[in-house]
Amino acid sequence: MNNKFYVTTPIYYVNDMPHIGHAYTTIAADILARYARLHGQTVFFLTGTDEHGQKVEQAAREKGRSPKEHADVMVENFRELWSKLNISHDAFIRTTDPEHVKTVQGLIQMLLDKGEIEKKGYSGWYCTPDERFWTEKDLLDGKCPDCGRGVEEIHEENYFFLMSKYQDKLIRYIEDNPFYILPETRKNEVLGFLKNNQLGDLCISRPHQRLSWGIPLPFDEQFVTYVWFDALVNYFSATRYLIPDGAEAARGDFWWPASHHLVGKDILTTHAVYWSTMLMALNFPLPDNIFAHGWWTVEGKKMSKSVGNVVDPNRIVDRYGTDALRYFLFREVPFGLDGDFSETSFINRVNTDLANDLGNLVSRFLTMAEKYVQGVIDEPLQSSVKENSDTFRQNCEAYSMEAGSDNHWSHLRFNLILDHIWDIIRAANNHIARTEPWKRAKQNDMNAVKSILNDIWKALRMTALLLYPFMPDTAENMWKQIGLKSLPEEATGHLPDKKGPSEVFSWNWRPGYDTAIAKGEQLFPRIERPKGDGHAAVTTGKQKKPDVGAGTMIGLDDFSKVELKVGKVLSAERIQGSKKLIKMNVDTGEQRQIVAGIGAAYRPEDLTGNKIVVVTNLQPARIMGVDSNGMILAATDAAGNPVIIIPEKDISEGSEIR
Ligand code: MSP
Repeated sequence: MNNKFYVTTPIYYVNDMPHIGHAYTTIAADILARYARLHGQTVFFLTGTDEHGQKVEQAAREKGRSPKEHADVMVENFRELWSKLNISHDAFIRTTDPEHVKTVQGLIQMLLDKGEIEKKGYSGWYCTPDERFWTEKDLLDGKCPDCGRGVEEIHEENYFFLMSKYQDKLIRYIEDNPFYILPETRKNEVLGFLKNNQLGDLCISRPHQRLSWGIPLPFDEQFVTYVWFDALVNYFSATRYLIPDGAEAARGDFWWPASHHLVGKDILTTHAVYWSTMLMALNFPLPDNIFAHGWWTVEGKKMSKSVGNVVDPNRIVDRYGTDALRYFLFREVPFGLDGDFSETSFINRVNTDLANDLGNLVSRFLTMAEKYVQGVIDEPLQSSVKENSDTFRQNCEAYSMEAGSDNHWSHLRFNLILDHIWDIIRAANNHIARTEPWKRAKQNDMNAVKSILNDIWKALRMTALLLYPFMPDTAENMWKQIGLKSLPEEATGHLPDKKGPSEVFSWNWRPGYDTAIAKGEQLFPRIERPKGDGHAAVTTGKQKKPDVGAGTMIGLDDFSKVELKVGKVLSAERIQGSKKLIKMNVDTGEQRQIVAGIGAAYRPEDLTGNKIVVVTNLQPARIMGVDSNGMILAATDAAGNPVIIIPEKDISEGSEIR
């Protein structure tokens, strides 16, 4: 395995709120990044926002803001969602970063100097929402062939990147590098397109008078850079100024090229054709892989704001938890194919796979371990279940080999990998059913009981490690409950004694200390199907959800529905297995339990005794299996950390805030 791993997501437009499609790619990149770290690779995981161009300019105008003000507000929606989804990105790029702007200008100048850019007269059909030119013959019934919306005819002078001359070279490159574009079907589509069409040159400028919100061309201030040229360069420019602190190599040329660019199928052409040829012209290496995933529909329909069926990841997480969403998206559908979201299939998945298979296994094991061996898992002496034990071990080892197969991981076969992890979980449940430890305990055959529990312990440890990239909180929670101290990621290569990845992945690995079972909250309680509200619970609905500071006005009536009170934190503790969640006992005139995602910024002991502001009439929720009754108010600082709001003077708990 190469020791460097650089993974990217598309950079998202800040003209709208993030939805499940954005969450999908970002979680996929997170899974890859966590897996790579688990195997001791040096990782750079980049995500960010695309902030120039007509769409953003238009959205800002509608809100009465400048484009930059609008971007500053909207970018927070992405940052907050990524924190909620436990995304472990190393850097967040914004195309308005001055360093990015400089890199784009530097590269354009370089291409001009190399004779790769020319100014030409041009006429074509322009689709404003897609920001793309089309030729007459591309149009479908006079409309944009991509989105079906109206186009306008435009005649102007522009700068062109001479992309057409790279057509043959690109075809050869894709054919010679079978891993370059995945999945295979998408690669064939790109090749088909390149072989059957004459590639044109790429218009990379927009006249300033038509669009001012863009990066000025360094050699002609009458023009700004085409938003896609600007956006694609992000993958390279980040490697120049956003490299993680203490990264092994802060040298500019260490991180480029990327290992994987993850993109949706709709933006494969811009990556496979525009970006690849731009890099060829610059004489830069091409990325190892561009992977195009499919699209999510909702109950068979395309997600759309006007239909009101846009699935809001925030709402799913608030209702069902981060890991349930992370699991569902990658188990339900092979990465690369289109998928259909429905709350029914979501609930079924969670109840069957997470509550029944995984949750029950863990809780049965912990209960038996406490009851029969006082929570101490030892290597047993010779036992009467030897034969069963050997078969079980061999099966689990075979499944875990499959789940960790390089071939599956390099082809991003997430659903297959999860399926193999579930093979272990199912095998462990069967092993318990077959060996019936409760009967052996009754017969006082404690060697057999120890042997069975020891085997299940190993299977759970293996499962937690393999699950970690997909469901980090759940894995850490399991890891602690089975008595392990350092977290999975640390245990694989970052421990002071450096056990190394291969050892920790082996069946017989044991930490260098005694493990003691620490039974905690149930992992995944069964979800009761919500009565009647169906998708309304997780979609944004027809009426627009106000974005942060969107300038959307509410009446006093709406505001007075929110009940705010001063609360006093009586006690606070971390929720096992979560870095962010803190459970607090708060007095707001009456005592209540509140779960808040402030654990990365506050220690429980710093909170106790503080007065805070609490929303007291919020519907109760269950977060990671813990009841939460209310919400505390916090602001977000520039680094994305929560800052709790504290009354200016001491005031008694229960005081109303109006
Ligand atoms: N800004 C460009 C990307 C520039 S990358 C150099 C862009 N942004 S976007 O916000 O419109 O879309 C980002 C991603 O969301 C795309 O990969 C797109 O495929 C994905 N999705 C949008 N809707 C989706 C679904 N319904 N399902 C899955 N992914 C979807 O394009």
